[in-house]
Amino acid sequence: MTLSKPKVTIYPDSDSLFRGAADRFKEIHTESIQFLDRFSVVLSGGSTPKDLYNLLASGPVGRSIDWSKVHFFWSDERCVPPDQPGSNYNMTYNAMLRELDQPENNIHRIAGEQEPARAAELYTSVIEEHFGGIEKVRFDLVLLGLGVDGHTASLFPGSPVLKEQRKIVAPVLKPGIPGPARVTLTFPALNASARVVFLVSGGSKAAMVKKLIEEDVSEELPASMVCPVAGTVEFLLDEEAASLLSSS
Ligand code: 6PG
Repeated sequence: MTLSKPKVTIYPDSDSLFRGAADRFKEIHTESIQFLDRFSVVLSGGSTPKDLYNLLASGPVGRSIDWSKVHFFWSDERCVPPDQPGSNYNMTYNAMLRELDQPENNIHRIAGEQEPARAAELYTSVIEEHFGGIEKVRFDLVLLGLGVDGHTASLFPGSPVLKEQRKIVAPVLKPGIPGPARVTLTFPALNASARVVFLVSGGSKAAMVKKLIEEDVSEELPASMVCPVAGTVEFLLDEEAASLLSSS
């Protein structure tokens, strides 16, 4: 199943990709503040978004954003304490959060220091409380990365979590997944979002990008299953990541 017509924007290099992503972040932030008077954004982990977070913390666009009404969530977390290098929270704190004048209770991190199932429970309650009920969960923006195997967040090919249809957060315990156990947003949460933006950089992802955008994939590629019911999916790519696209 190809993604239903995702919007694809290609930038000449990674620097312009992250500048473009910062602009897009601000656009969606502005819309959300205008209509909702707050901006509920899900940050991705991994290494790709680090440069975007640095830009948002100290670049011109980031300095023009009123962060006081921004609520930060995470797409997934590794089950390690928040001060450990493997933690997605730790990466975003060092790259951005520590530079922002940010109300503490607008930071809704996944409690990686807890047992996975407990962390998933706690995060579910935080999200439900934020939106006023499970049926109202709707993130304004979800930033996602892409693995070379088509995973996104901590939704991996073959994982039983791909079949979750009710819970918005799940522990990821399947052996063979790199590193520690994890906690992830599930498709019910991702597909209730208003806007999903995949941020993909580098030639190593080009084959998967082509598969997702141009081919009719049969196997369950997690990234291809991100299809917001009443929202949009966009790909922000640098030329290397887009290098195998026929339109490239
Ligand atoms: C994580 C991310 C994961 C990541 C992809 C791409 O916790 O690692 O949620 O889904 O976005 O693995 O990672 P890179 O950006 O490092 O290539």
